[in-house]
Amino acid sequence: MAKCTVEHLELSRQRGFGKPLFGLVLVKFLGCNSNHRVLDIGCGTGFFTRILARNCGAYIVGMDIDNQLLKAAKSIASEENLIIEFKVGDITQIPELDGSFDIVMSDIMLERFRGSNIGYPKGIEAPIREMKRVCKENGVVACIEPFYRSSFTWDPWATPEENEVLLKYTSVNARWIGAGPTLPSLFQSVGLKEIELITWFWGGIANESNRNRNLDHAVMKLEERLQKTKNLISECSALSEEDKAILFAYWRRKIKYLKQTPEQLLTDMTVNGLQVFITKGRR
Ligand SMILES: C[S@@+](CC[C@H](N)C(=O)[O-])C[C@H]1O[C@@H](n2cnc3c(N)ncnc32)[C@H](O)[C@@H]1O
Repeated sequence: MAKCTVEHLELSRQRGFGKPLFGLVLVKFLGCNSNHRVLDIGCGTGFFTRILARNCGAYIVGMDIDNQLLKAAKSIASEENLIIEFKVGDITQIPELDGSFDIVMSDIMLERFRGSNIGYPKGIEAPIREMKRVCKENGVVACIEPFYRSSFTWDPWATPEENEVLLKYTSVNARWIGAGPTLPSLFQSVGLKEIELITWFWGGIANESNRNRNLDHAVMKLEERLQKTKNLISECSALSEEDKAILFAYWRRKIKYLKQTPEQLLTDMTVNGLQVFITKGRR
């Protein structure tokens, strides 16, 4: 698994999670308030930790296994005068007592524990169990994880026939589709209750080139995406040749349309954006 850099984490999170509305939605969903103690485990540079600190006034701890990322996290948070305690810790053995936090969350970091079982990644269960252990009775455990097939689920722009094949393609677990969709069943299997899920969009072509919203760069990304998509569809043995032809035609039509309408291309989320699922459960 590639090592995260400060620049990558800060820039990539900015796309999609940088808007103040996300913070309000997240804090409301978690039910976080100023009396709470909150742990963000695997916090990296603390992008999400800062969102919590800005929006809920709770006592917040950001924890990560990587000391260098924590150093950056401390410095970025102090530039904003945010009070957050950052400390080193491993999600597989969180150095905290049982029931120490009202809310325990992790963002975009569980996938590294999935192991090789694509259909049901049991490896992710142990870290979730550990998050549950340090969460108080009745407290909340929450995880933000991507769903890599979101651009295939349903497209208002596609025909009903195309949408039917899109849906068929999405439901085939021939490849890793992200930890997001697996979380509700994993939460259930570790005994968390009242499981709920919301989604949010992350990325988008315009945001790939977010420094200057450059159209040429966006077209290049679009071509790259088209190639990746062609490969994914070709190797999907669960689709008939006829289904594949329908999907290829849909993509060709969509790409042509996006290239002809730069404004649409720069704001489109379906081509290079992806959905994240935010799942919570009560201990
Ligand atoms: C993809 S980054 C996500 C960082 C941050 N949550 C975010 O979304 O911006 C994954 C993070 O998990 C951390 N990490 C990896 N293994 C860990 C472990 N066993 N315990 C705690 N943190 C870990 C990495 O150091 C890295 O900061």
